[in-house]
Amino acid sequence: MEIQSKIAILDFGSQVSQLIARRLREIGVYSELFPFDVDLAELKEFHPGGIILSGGPFSVYDKEAPIRDLQPLIDMAPVLGICYGMQLLVKELGGVVEAAENREYGLNKVLWSQALHDDVPKEQKVWMSHGDVVKQIPEDFELLAVSQGGHPAAIRSKRVWAVQFHPEVSHTDHGLEILKAFALDLCQLKSSWNQKFIANYLLEEIQNKVAPNEHVLCALSGGVDSTVVATLLTKALGPERVHCVFVNNGLLRKNEFEEVKGIYQELKLNLHTVDAEARFLEKLKDIEDPEEKRKRIGRLFIEIFEEECHLHKDITYLGQGTLYPDVIESVSLRGSSVTIKSHHNVGGLPEKMNLKLIEPLRELFKDEVREIGEELGIPREILWRHPFPGPGLAVRVLGAITKEDLDTLREADHIFIRELKESGHYRKIWQAFAALLPVRSVGVQGDGRTYGKTIVLRAITSKDGMTADWYEFPSDFLRHVSNAITNEVKNINRVVYDVTSKPPATIEWE
Ligand code: XMP
Repeated sequence: MEIQSKIAILDFGSQVSQLIARRLREIGVYSELFPFDVDLAELKEFHPGGIILSGGPFSVYDKEAPIRDLQPLIDMAPVLGICYGMQLLVKELGGVVEAAENREYGLNKVLWSQALHDDVPKEQKVWMSHGDVVKQIPEDFELLAVSQGGHPAAIRSKRVWAVQFHPEVSHTDHGLEILKAFALDLCQLKSSWNQKFIANYLLEEIQNKVAPNEHVLCALSGGVDSTVVATLLTKALGPERVHCVFVNNGLLRKNEFEEVKGIYQELKLNLHTVDAEARFLEKLKDIEDPEEKRKRIGRLFIEIFEEECHLHKDITYLGQGTLYPDVIESVSLRGSSVTIKSHHNVGGLPEKMNLKLIEPLRELFKDEVREIGEELGIPREILWRHPFPGPGLAVRVLGAITKEDLDTLREADHIFIRELKESGHYRKIWQAFAALLPVRSVGVQGDGRTYGKTIVLRAITSKDGMTADWYEFPSDFLRHVSNAITNEVKNINRVVYDVTSKPPATIEWE
């Protein structure tokens, strides 16, 4: 099964390059990001039906500006330049780019004299972010639109379109239509990348990759990605060859192990459960430092998977739920950022275990994973649950962990989530949870003095977890949850709500 319609996006360092890929896929056109200086031969091998040059933080005159010869790209496929991509095209094709007197940043309007496609109003609201402007367009190009400042905002030649604004961001009206017109009209591609196609394509990929005598070990976490990976692998290879391991590490939420186990059984996965609560708690005894907690949890997971590897002698693959954003992080011009938290705590797994990796979701975005999850019949309860960190409640009981504190937190968290679901807030929130603070405070309950612990509630909105804002509850809701927690959970006499965005805070408290 071949993907027929593909667009390559050359990343010149914009913060929103990923969005271009997501938007194209929404249109049903498969697209991948490449570094701006990707080898021509590698690009050819991808067989792009169109090429997009992304925006970027540079001026084309910067010493370190990313520059490449564009004619071979134009010879290969129709090209769309966005922002920096437009300026580079103009400069390389003989036009003139200059530093602007006034930087155009944020919301702007463009006035079209000729449209790139139907249905666009003459005046269009767009998002811009650029210091340089096009002073003179190259020969063979026609001017289609200008910005409020009177600078060229859209130009076109036979095989090249270029826009100064960002059609991929939601602040730009009709942006999607411009990408669609480029992909479907200029490039003549077909819109075929949809739920059904993706699921069938992935199943076939798995069957081609894993030889008939080989088996796969698959770690389950209760989250969307690992559930979709396990279900896909099982569907492609049959349950006898896909050994799914679900570990109770004692750091899961209330009833989570049993509930998720039930769902896995319904999905007919070949499930092996491991009760390792005591082992994890022993390893975490007296450990206060969050990174040390993560390391110990990661190492113990590895130990357990190594043991489970003996489930079958023909296990040669490890299934992992790596997604496309993890893959392109290493492609990006921006390079890797400082480690704030070591999130990928099972990273060393395959090397140590001498297994090959199979990552069926590595070309997909999260929303696509959810869509195939639906196609595969995975319950919405799993597909739409909030993200949950690998080290679980270990990073939500602050400081040293005890079973008693974990149980207290489980009760409080359960009440919070229950109320969120009942009130309808749950779906509007990206992630919500309770954490247990290592402080005690004085309270009064009935006629007596209490000296209890504090629960902090956190609820945030976010697109990807990289930045986040706290969620605004009506005060009645917070009052109700606070009362429920202090009434129902022993040892808790104080509830606070976290009103910090990310940055400066992170989402988890540890
Ligand atoms: P932070 O706290 O860094 O969290 O703002 C961003 C997202 O990542 C999750 N998170 C983790 N996930 N292992 C994981 O698998 C971890 O060690 C870990 N720490 C944080 C967090 O829940 C949020 O969704």
